Amino acid sequence: MEYLNKIIAAKDWLENNYDMDNIEIAIVLGSGLGAFAEQLDNPIEIDFTDIPDFKTSEVEGHKNRLVIGYSSGKKIIIMQGRLHYYEGNSMKAVTFPIRVLSMLNIKKIIITNAAGGLTGEAGQLMIIEDHLDLFCENPLIGENLDVFGERFPDMSKVYNPEWINIALEKGRSLGINLTKGTYCYLTGPSYETPFDIRVLKVLGVNAVGMSTVPEALVAKHSKMTILGISCITNLASGISTKPLSHSEVVETTSRVSEDFIKLLRGIIEEL
Ligand code: HPA
Repeated sequence: MEYLNKIIAAKDWLENNYDMDNIEIAIVLGSGLGAFAEQLDNPIEIDFTDIPDFKTSEVEGHKNRLVIGYSSGKKIIIMQGRLHYYEGNSMKAVTFPIRVLSMLNIKKIIITNAAGGLTGEAGQLMIIEDHLDLFCENPLIGENLDVFGERFPDMSKVYNPEWINIALEKGRSLGINLTKGTYCYLTGPSYETPFDIRVLKVLGVNAVGMSTVPEALVAKHSKMTILGISCITNLASGISTKPLSHSEVVETTSRVSEDFIKLLRGIIEEL
């Protein structure tokens, strides 16, 4: 199968060119949250453009590279930037890097994003307890990749409950403004209408965003253990009285960056 062959080719290329052994945790860094990658020990950077079949994102705040390095003595790999469906990528392209990471035998993944808050406040970090994927074209549609997982994967605990508790406890001990809640995927690129948000609020959604869920579905299918973290960059449409803008998203992530890095570093110690 062509898609699977491409995953294997990208994995082989990485293994032939870099030391990919013993990587414990993969981390996907969302819009504006890339700074965490800058403070790894002994970092090695790999541009997406060099890796066979890795596409690049044009969105501001995404650096389009993998960074391998150490945090608290653990070897980790970071996706500094990700692909989005709203850029015109297929869901298979969006989730291709996750398949490659899984094929490299990485079992743990932390997926982060910038999100609009229906509850809470801008600048808050939210541990994702569960997600609403009803508006997400499922990336698992098509021939099942049996090497990764089964045709009808269970999604009853996408985000690992123990890790949720570890993250909340770490946030508490570090004095970080942290909550937990439900994340809803929407395709974007337009932000929501106030009515979209009123409806989603009735459904119990805490945060909305344009990423994470496709990656989480594929990571779960690949039997990876997942933690999700949202940075609430703005109050959602209609809750905020201001028009929404990407510059506000990037501004808030840079304001929260220090806490985000502290939290992530603390969580990595524990996983
Ligand atoms: N809506 C959707 N995606 C987002 C938002 C938002 O308000 N903020 C950051 N990403």
